[in-house]
Amino acid sequence: MEQRPLGRTGADVSVIGLGTWQLGGDWGDVDDDAAADVLDAALDAGVTLLDTADVYGDGRSEQRIRKALAPRAERPFVATKAGRRADPFEAAQYTPDNLRAWIDRSRRNLGVDTLDLVQLHCPPTAVYSDDRVYDTLDTLVEEQAIAAYGVSVETVEEGMTALQHPGVQTIQVILNIFRRKPLEELLPAAQRAGVGILARVPLASGLLTGKYDESTTFPADDHRNFNRHGEAFDVGETFSGVPFDVGVAAARAVAEIAGDAVPTAAFALRWVIDQPGVTAVIPGARTVTQVRGNVAAATLAPLSDSQLSDLERVYDERIRAHVHDRW
Ligand SMILES: NC(=O)c1ccc[n+]([C@@H]2O[C@H](COP(=O)([O-])OP(=O)(O)OC[C@H]3O[C@@H](n4cnc5c(N)ncnc54)[C@H](OP(=O)(O)O)[C@@H]3O)[C@@H](O)[C@H]2O)c1
Repeated sequence: MEQRPLGRTGADVSVIGLGTWQLGGDWGDVDDDAAADVLDAALDAGVTLLDTADVYGDGRSEQRIRKALAPRAERPFVATKAGRRADPFEAAQYTPDNLRAWIDRSRRNLGVDTLDLVQLHCPPTAVYSDDRVYDTLDTLVEEQAIAAYGVSVETVEEGMTALQHPGVQTIQVILNIFRRKPLEELLPAAQRAGVGILARVPLASGLLTGKYDESTTFPADDHRNFNRHGEAFDVGETFSGVPFDVGVAAARAVAEIAGDAVPTAAFALRWVIDQPGVTAVIPGARTVTQVRGNVAAATLAPLSDSQLSDLERVYDERIRAHVHDRW
């Protein structure tokens, strides 16, 4: 698997990582055995980047990662997140004491002295320009509680703000065939600054696999049911903020552009990893088959010029009006 340097962290990570929100909760039931199988399949296939968060299943995703890694000699790079345990969820909660407590909890969950990477987990916008928060993170780096820190953002503007802080090593952002705005300004700026880009929600929560139709439903405990209109958290995290029926129809057009010989999911991931400035993509997976399908994107040929312009047309005609100016 191709490895790329993750910004200035000194670490190399596989171009296809694994998102592990699914191994915590909010995506219907994934039991212990299924989660262990997903993690083993990814690691065995050469994935060296896992993305998790302290709130995925209230720590369950981190704990399952710890268990899967215990018998292994080689450790992947584990990127976790902090900040969404803030209660109430407001900028004033991002105090040195709270940040330290959240990070210490992740160290215990993951069973390590030093976390590879902590990303501020889509905090209130004011946090991205709060020097005190970065000062605390710098102190935690000095103390070796964390090796590096970055941010996960909802909007391009938040990413641009975070880039002004020299300690920020990575930016995690939604980037996929239905969410193209980061290509304009954020990715070039991150590249100039030597900051790694982790592309999340690359399959638009599964839409870009082409496997859903207008009658598809999701379990009650799946955010694709309960956050469809942003009821629980930012609506952009569910189907990338694209209305479901619009997304299903556009995904059908994407599948046609991919053609019969190439699975649409792998095609969509290839598009992401070929965007200049992207370090790695972190598709979420609930099954071993999905993991293997996603890893296959690393060996696909780059998309042709005509495929790229056809995809741009799908975006302009069907998707842009729903998402472009919002995030
Ligand atoms: N705020 C943040 O920082 C934030 C927010 C969101 C996500 N993330 C991170 O980004 C990761 C990726 O985003 P995401 O999981 O939300 O969305 P995603 O990767 O776009 O979509 C994941 C879903 O796509 C489907 N899928 C995946 N691979 C497939 C394959 N090969 N064939 C068919 N279907 C496939 C599965 O749907 P089914 O479940 O229907 O099978 C899976 O649950 C997360 O796991 C998490 O680590 C971070």
